[in-house]
Amino acid sequence: MTTINWETLHTEAIAAMKRAYAPYSKFPVGVAALADDGRIVTGCNVENASYGLGLCAECGLVSNLVLNGRSIIRAIYCVDAHGNALSPCGRCRQLLWEHSTPDTQFMTPDGPAPLSTLLPWAFGPENL
Ligand code: THU
Repeated sequence: MTTINWETLHTEAIAAMKRAYAPYSKFPVGVAALADDGRIVTGCNVENASYGLGLCAECGLVSNLVLNGRSIIRAIYCVDAHGNALSPCGRCRQLLWEHSTPDTQFMTPDGPAPLSTLLPWAFGPENL
């Protein structure tokens, strides 16, 4: 199992946040994940003049992960403009769930927590 370096993930999430395109909400978000193959994958939010079409940072991360060779996510660190741990929205929890395990660790303001606590009774591929 890959060792989780939370400091590196935090640094990468901040770097991604700095690339966010969030002129409407002025709420840049960055996220970094450690994949099972050792890769660190990142994403940032990308908003749109048609407000409802904006993409969350986690969407970008998942797209990046699959495009470059899907691997299971072991740890996730999502940050706001201040570099503080940010809780993902409901849709993003579901997106992350698909490529994670219940034990994938997510950084919360109180420290790492398993993804299963962020999305209890989750709907996944095995329910189809
Ligand atoms: N946002 C994310 O990128 N991820 C989340 O999990 C929560 C919200 C973005 C969407 C929008 O661009 C901005 O934060 C304000 O809601």
